[in-house]
Amino acid sequence: MFKRILFVCLLGVLNTVTAQTPTDYLSADFHKNRREVLRSKMPKNSVTIVFANPIRNRANDVDYVFHQDPNFYYLTGYREPNAVLVLFSENQTDDKGNTYNEILYVQKNDPRAELWNGKRLGIEGTKKELGFKVAKNAEDFISDELNFKNFDQIFIEKFKDDYRNSERNKAEVYDLVNTFKSKSGYNPSSFLSKEKKYVYELIKSTPVENSANVAQIIGKAITYYPSFKRDKLLMGYKNATNNKLKKEFQQKAELKLNEKSNIDIQFLSTRMAEMREIKTPEEMKLLTKAIRISAIGQVEMMKAMKSEMSETEIQGIHEFVYKKYGAEYEGYPSIVGAGNNGCILHYIENNKTKVNNELVLMDLGAEYRGYTADVTRTIPANGKFSPEQKAIYNIVLKAQNAGIAVSKAGNQFWQPGQEAKQVINQGLLDLGIIKSLDEKHMYFPHGTSHHIGLDVHDPGTYGKFQENMVITVEPGIYIPEGSKCDKKWWGIAVRIEDDILITKDTPVNLSNEAPRTVKAIEEMMAKKSVLNDFVLPSLD
Ligand code: GLY
Ligand code: MN
Ligand code: MN
Repeated sequence: MFKRILFVCLLGVLNTVTAQTPTDYLSADFHKNRREVLRSKMPKNSVTIVFANPIRNRANDVDYVFHQDPNFYYLTGYREPNAVLVLFSENQTDDKGNTYNEILYVQKNDPRAELWNGKRLGIEGTKKELGFKVAKNAEDFISDELNFKNFDQIFIEKFKDDYRNSERNKAEVYDLVNTFKSKSGYNPSSFLSKEKKYVYELIKSTPVENSANVAQIIGKAITYYPSFKRDKLLMGYKNATNNKLKKEFQQKAELKLNEKSNIDIQFLSTRMAEMREIKTPEEMKLLTKAIRISAIGQVEMMKAMKSEMSETEIQGIHEFVYKKYGAEYEGYPSIVGAGNNGCILHYIENNKTKVNNELVLMDLGAEYRGYTADVTRTIPANGKFSPEQKAIYNIVLKAQNAGIAVSKAGNQFWQPGQEAKQVINQGLLDLGIIKSLDEKHMYFPHGTSHHIGLDVHDPGTYGKFQENMVITVEPGIYIPEGSKCDKKWWGIAVRIEDDILITKDTPVNLSNEAPRTVKAIEEMMAKKSVLNDFVLPSLD
């Protein structure tokens, strides 16, 4: 009896422990539905192969924190490395007559590895929790008879080429990719980029008597695509000294253009972009949470800011708020740049020891159950904008408002950028920082909008806005020291970035909990922060 009670108690404890891990990940049904949608887009007799991310090494026996490949996660929900999804357009039949249209190959259960690095889902967990009818060990992907050559088309993503063989297990992504390559007859040189294809077509279709024109185009193309220099055919044609030689290269170009492979590296990324750019209600819940957490991080930081703080401490306060809400990570390395450091667009050193009286640009995003926000606020370290800081800030704010206003279904993706650019150029002209509206300058050197989602720069087709897209609108003005303008502007960098839900009507600013106007920011900064009382012992 006592044993029985103990057993029941243990079960209770285990249940409680299980209940204490997050339960709000995307559902198995979500991932299943995404696979169905992808399958419905695949032509007959085709197969899609998606690889999980590998583990990447940091140094010696320490690895970077694992992050799943977003496409793989979107389609499977599997959060471990060293796995591969095989998705068939139609039902397949195994030796026993069972039918299936997808297989997820996963890390096999291994008590020793699990003792050190945590539990693995394994085959049974994958079936039960992720709802896969057929799950196998990744090692089976290597040994299974998978005859890829039988399919009319094989869809894969371009390999990232950073797989390493740690030899910790026999089925790392490194081995899975190599297996795929040998079983499918993968030949990377059979893929021509769009740009190269264009030049090959030109070579093929231009009479050799006019080859000088094409040679000139190749010369110019090399400045944009330096890798063209390594293409023997292009360089051979460009440098050929007689028409006979040129004709030979022309024939080679034709042969290359006619080469057939059943492996396609475009289809999958385009289909994934079409799917991922529109957020489902289930995704919106998580994404909205990531955004709200990030906006609240900005609010808390506004209250806590002091001139004595370091960029590192400011980063820590945002990230502490994220963790307090249970966000597992940051969606990208946090950017905290005071003064001139803010002019470095992706400044991640964050190592200035004192922010003094400068503007502090804070571009950070919480990652919540895989979904990442991307929110930037720029605030004066001492709580009050100087006249110069305010002048630049208000131009960026006006530009952002103009950009947000046109972020509506039916408009083009480039419209917010166009609106913002106009406002910024006019503002810089009014302040005498540029001398004419046509002046080429680098004070706003980046794009204004991108999708967010499982990636901070989420894939998309970048055509017209559609309902339920979530984009950033993030204009900025950056005036590095030494710029060709009055010194009083030097070292001012402002970016304001919000996450906007596209609807048919008014755009919804999902990060509007963080104040944006000069007045609202100064008011927020005047508030007391609980962190004022958080004093640690001095180590000096
Ligand atoms: N945080 C990177 C970006 O704003 O795109
Ligand atoms: Mn951004
Ligand atoms: Mn950003």
